[in-house]
Amino acid sequence: MSKNFRVLASVAMAATLAATTACSNTRDTEEASSGGSASNLVGIAMPTRSLERWNNDGAHLDGLLKKAGYTTSLQYADNKVEQQITQIENMINQNPKVLVVASIDGTALGPVLEKAANAKIKVIAYDRLINSTPNVDYYATFDNYLVGKLQGEFIVDKLGLKDGKGPFNLEPFAGSSDDNNAKFFFNGAWDVLKPYVESGKLVIPSGKKIATEEDWKTVSITGWKSETAQAEMDNRINSFYTGGKKVNVVLSPNDSLALGIAQSLESKGYKPGADYPLITGQDADLANTKNVLADKQAMTVWKDTRTLGDQVAKMVDAIVKGGTVETNDTKTYNNGVKVVPAYLLPPVVVTKEDVKAKLVDSGFYTADKLGL
Ligand code: BGC
Repeated sequence: MSKNFRVLASVAMAATLAATTACSNTRDTEEASSGGSASNLVGIAMPTRSLERWNNDGAHLDGLLKKAGYTTSLQYADNKVEQQITQIENMINQNPKVLVVASIDGTALGPVLEKAANAKIKVIAYDRLINSTPNVDYYATFDNYLVGKLQGEFIVDKLGLKDGKGPFNLEPFAGSSDDNNAKFFFNGAWDVLKPYVESGKLVIPSGKKIATEEDWKTVSITGWKSETAQAEMDNRINSFYTGGKKVNVVLSPNDSLALGIAQSLESKGYKPGADYPLITGQDADLANTKNVLADKQAMTVWKDTRTLGDQVAKMVDAIVKGGTVETNDTKTYNNGVKVVPAYLLPPVVVTKEDVKAKLVDSGFYTADKLGL
């Protein structure tokens, strides 16, 4: 472990607190900031400020790198692909050592990353893989397939499907189809749930059929938007849940969708403790964690984004200092051109019973913030 990294580790918690407080209603704007000399520049491209997790991710990584003496340029792109490309181009013009990119559209960055490669700038894909380009050097993320698998297994356990219980009415949702993670999340869940759909223990009243690998796109919500998920759930309830039929379970890939789905269900009169369905999620966003506590969401898959930032900061430091960049997966993430060496972190299921033990005791949230 380098000296800088001992410093990094020791400031992780402080940076996390800063990350949490940095999460505000600020819209996506460009920001550049410095904490060291320009020759030590690291560019950080994040997708949007509109989701809590990216605010935390950006602020945490930025804080770690600055504390370690790097200059940073942290940019958010309002979920607009062209804006992200322009931001990365501007970063390249400042000749950074490393670019860290959480892409919006994983297939749209090939041309701009060719410029980075020509300028000998190393690229780390952050959380989301960057596809169809040889010019991505490393990938750091959580085990995306496992996220979905945990959601699927949770549904199986809670409904007692292994004990032959059912049939239950399931509504499946998937994430944004331009995000490489979305298909991993869905496949992880579907590999667990599919046998029960086939045996008739899980019924899909809306008729969404996921027969082939690519069919997950038919239930995908573009841009991971809560309002789109809400409208889609409204439509499914209005069209297919007539005559007293009830939704029993919703496979939601993440918290932003789960929030919209919960709003739809509430507006249709579903009540926690009575007929409220089991809803899955991911990210342990604040509003969703509160929903978990209020029985409006059954679980969330927590990805401690502090650990992702820590790992990426280590990667940056190893690249800059010419050390060995740690990876633990060299086979899963083929981007269409090459397998990108990856570091996968473990996701964790959080339910009402363990919000305190997992999210509060770890310092991810204060008890106060959750109203505990
Ligand atoms: C991330 C999730 C997040 C989603 C929406 C995915 O790529 O892995 O954590 O919920 O994007 O921002």
